[in-house]
Amino acid sequence: MIERLGLKSPFGPRKSESLSATLIRNISSVLALTLVFILLLTYWQSATKVETEVGSALAIAEKTVRKVVQEIAHDDDPRLQLVRLVRVFDGNRHVKVTFAEAGPSPQRISSFVAPVEELPNWFYAIMAGVPDVVRVELPGDLARFGAMELKADQRSEVEEVWEDFLLRLAILSVFCALVATLVYVTVGRALAPLPNLSTAFERLGGGDYDVRVAETGPTELVRLCSGFNEMATRLGDMETANRRLNDQLATVQEEERADLARDLHDEVSPFLFSVEVDASTIRNMSQAPDRKAVLERADAIRVAIAHMNKHVRSILGRLRPTVHLEFGLASAIETLVDSWKLRDPKVTFNVEVDDLGGTAKEDAVIHGIVREAVSNAFKHGRPTRIDVAVTSEADGARVVVKDDGGGLAPGGTPGGTGGGFGLIAMRERVTALGGTVEIRNSETPAGVTVDVRLPIGETSAAFDGSADPEVG
Ligand SMILES: Nc1ncnc2c1ncn2[C@@H]1O[C@H](COP(=O)(O)OP(=O)(O)OP(=O)(O)O)[C@@H](O)[C@H]1O
Ligand SMILES: [Mg+2]
Repeated sequence: MIERLGLKSPFGPRKSESLSATLIRNISSVLALTLVFILLLTYWQSATKVETEVGSALAIAEKTVRKVVQEIAHDDDPRLQLVRLVRVFDGNRHVKVTFAEAGPSPQRISSFVAPVEELPNWFYAIMAGVPDVVRVELPGDLARFGAMELKADQRSEVEEVWEDFLLRLAILSVFCALVATLVYVTVGRALAPLPNLSTAFERLGGGDYDVRVAETGPTELVRLCSGFNEMATRLGDMETANRRLNDQLATVQEEERADLARDLHDEVSPFLFSVEVDASTIRNMSQAPDRKAVLERADAIRVAIAHMNKHVRSILGRLRPTVHLEFGLASAIETLVDSWKLRDPKVTFNVEVDDLGGTAKEDAVIHGIVREAVSNAFKHGRPTRIDVAVTSEADGARVVVKDDGGGLAPGGTPGGTGGGFGLIAMRERVTALGGTVEIRNSETPAGVTVDVRLPIGETSAAFDGSADPEVG
């Protein structure tokens, strides 16, 4: 959705960036954000801890000092006791105690705080707050000696936090490095087949249908690779079938031309010759008129021309069969049958064509079915009778062409292995219109029945009529 609106997703692949690089970039960003979040949380926790620890140490120290100064109020040498009290705090990690003496020569006697070993100043600056100071006034007579001052010292506590911080940072860094390495290795391995696949696609696009890819890697890629291999196999098969169909088409056209040449040679040329002879004879007879002989020659010319006319129409019908569809399907099938009758008058045709009310395209497909089935009967069998029935049924049209030419050769699969194109093309066209084709042997008399069921009035976009449905 983001991509479609033209907005760029920050997690999407950048221009010419590989998928694995995108994944690693995104995962590294998430890890870096997690690291920052954990460090902020650590900072907040540590700052609170420093404040609490140092605050409670100062409170305990104050309580101790107040208690001790009460006790030493009656001592013989209170000053000495006060100095001793300061020394008691020597080495304390959190509190520095100072005895601020009063009098003509005031001195400040302080305890020393436990030293810190390695604490960067910048870290101390961000962790430490303003140190608390507590002044304890000495009671009664002791007040003349001065006062005690207690000052919180955070360095030691911050050093603890610093060490803790270093440890956490090390653990997190190792964790992030391990995750990044693991992701890099896993993604790298998982996507390893992709470059091969993209090369294979390029080769396939270039027309190399023998290309295959190894089906390895994660399940999704295995499925993708096996889908690719299947597609390449199918494309290869389709190309082979296409080449075969083109060869067949060329052969069919060649046969058709030879057929037409034979018809012209056998059925038209001799008659043209006889017309020429008759015309010359009439010319010679006109010198010594013999009316009866002239009439006979003229009749002979008329018969010859009628014969040629019939054949020329038949040839035209074979060259442009759809022309006849302009006069309806029944008329076109009749013309088709007539042309076969002319070629082989011994064969009896029994034709029944209902008015289907189909579209021109549907009529053309039905005409093509009848043409191919009748042509196959003559080509592959020795028929004496052919029944053609185009009937209207509740769910469309039914076209049945039944011959008694002997039947399919044993073991032969019509439209399958014989190298023929006609039945394949018939099946393709009928299936594209949502119909079915059944080709079966009939027993008595032995022959072949082509049985097609076709929905009518539902011509789909699968067949736009641009291809010649008569091919085959
Ligand atoms: N009426 C039939 N009688 C006997 N065999 C047939 C008949 N119709 C089809 N066949 C068999 O089925 C095969 C396939 O027929 P198909 O029409 O597909 O091819 P073809 O006629 O050999 O070649 P094409 O139609 O491409 O010119 C034929 O080779 C033939 O063996
Ligand atoms: Mg055929």
